Amino acid sequence: MALRPNLQPEQMLISVGDEAGKLNWAEIFGNDHPVELEIGSGKGTFLLAIATALPEHNYVGIEWAKAYADFAADRLRRHGTANARMVHGEATWWIRCHVPDASLTAIHVYFPDPWPKTRHHKRRLIQLPFLKEVHRMLVPGGKLRLVTDHAEYFAHMQETLAAQTDLQVVEFDSPVPLKADAPAGSIVGTNFERKYIAEGRKFHATAARKGEK
Ligand SMILES: C[S@@+](CC[C@H](N)C(=O)[O-])C[C@H]1O[C@@H](n2cnc3c(N)ncnc32)[C@H](O)[C@@H]1O
Repeated sequence: MALRPNLQPEQMLISVGDEAGKLNWAEIFGNDHPVELEIGSGKGTFLLAIATALPEHNYVGIEWAKAYADFAADRLRRHGTANARMVHGEATWWIRCHVPDASLTAIHVYFPDPWPKTRHHKRRLIQLPFLKEVHRMLVPGGKLRLVTDHAEYFAHMQETLAAQTDLQVVEFDSPVPLKADAPAGSIVGTNFERKYIAEGRKFHATAARKGEK
């Protein structure tokens, strides 16, 4: 079910078949500005905020739930956000098919599904093969940023980052100035963050950087 009537998401969606292969960001955005990716954009609140605040960067958001992907794309259209696009798709598959090597300056993953049951841990996004893809996609010096409210998933993220050597763990730094009305305790200003602040949850954040060589 659509989250809002009469959505017009099409012009803001990157919609390509697997056969399209790796994409050309400069063709998509009409410029060669740095490109950042958000995985699991939900309703697109972070994507819209960062794309508005930093117009000299381009943004791509991937969202698996069609209703959310369409809502976020329509929201970008309504705000005239020329430097952002949405993708409706499964992120691990889509990035492997379509994101060129060394083409992203940042990757944002905020409040990814924690899959708390042990038998579902394999569904978690943050796994070693995903971090290999992150390394492939980032430019030298590019950063992966992670935020979660789930302490056990955060421990898993830290263990997974410690088990690889491609990316160096670095302190989390804010990717975007927060809005004036952001509640106390905000880190990135997503919808889930706002909801979890109201519930009094604690957040965990980390980042990892691809070396310059
Ligand atoms: C807990 S929500 C967080 C949404 C948003 N980042 C926020 O903080 O408000 C996680 C989102 O990631 C999406 N998602 C989960 N796995 C995904 C995947 N493999 N590919 C794309 N989106 C995914 C879900 O559909 C959901 O909208």
